[in-house]
Amino acid sequence: MKRIPIIAGNWKMYKTKDDALSFIYAVNVAVPEKELVESVICAPAIFLRDLVKREGEDLRIGAQTMHELDEGAYTGEISAPMLKAYGVDYVVLGHSERRAYYNETDESVNKKLIQAVKNELTPIVCVGESLEIREAGTTDQVVKDQVVKAYLNVSSDQALKTVVAYEPIWAIGTGKTATPDQANDTIKAIRNVLKGLYGAMVSDSIRILYGGSVKPNNVDELLAKSDIDGALVGGASLDPESFLTLVKAAVKK
Ligand code: 13P
Repeated sequence: MKRIPIIAGNWKMYKTKDDALSFIYAVNVAVPEKELVESVICAPAIFLRDLVKREGEDLRIGAQTMHELDEGAYTGEISAPMLKAYGVDYVVLGHSERRAYYNETDESVNKKLIQAVKNELTPIVCVGESLEIREAGTTDQVVKDQVVKAYLNVSSDQALKTVVAYEPIWAIGTGKTATPDQANDTIKAIRNVLKGLYGAMVSDSIRILYGGSVKPNNVDELLAKSDIDGALVGGASLDPESFLTLVKAAVKK
């Protein structure tokens, strides 16, 4: 089963408007065709409109979070219909930083996943374990639990419209990457959970990304692995050259 790889940059709370614009002008014309790799930039909400206006055929824009409801008295929040109306195509859900600092839970991730798909946004659903869990040897169980809870009451058709990102918390922003085998083994375990929920046809179609200190110098060995379908990238997505190196590496997959 051929899965088109995805390289998604997660800018987190970095860049000014001028930086964001110079990035998109530099990258837009240089990313490979979307049939070869889906190139995505998940930017701070305040830049989304400017980026969507300038995105080309082969670059897509994503948000870093969203609310689970259509509308309501939730100061500071942004809804899926708002993102969709702005031309946003992807949304990161359940990032470990959102789980740690903004009270995002498996239950809210589940609601947001369903809401994103309903609004024709592609959710990038993040799961991953802490260092304590990795050292205790219970990674697969913990990640499995996160996946099962995220996909509660999600149909096969809906699941097919999602992307998963496996991001071990201990590898985020630390320069410590999971070894390609560690990443691939956990991603296989995730695919196995999806197989249990939806069958092999669906689980073989869902893209599962790795995230955590992915850089131009380690991307090839990660993407060479059977089940790693791309990367969710923080630091190395901020620089146009570095981001382009990553998307070009994914073309070879
Ligand atoms: P780094 O690539 O900076 O480790 O960040 C990973 C991440 O959290 C992407 O969502």
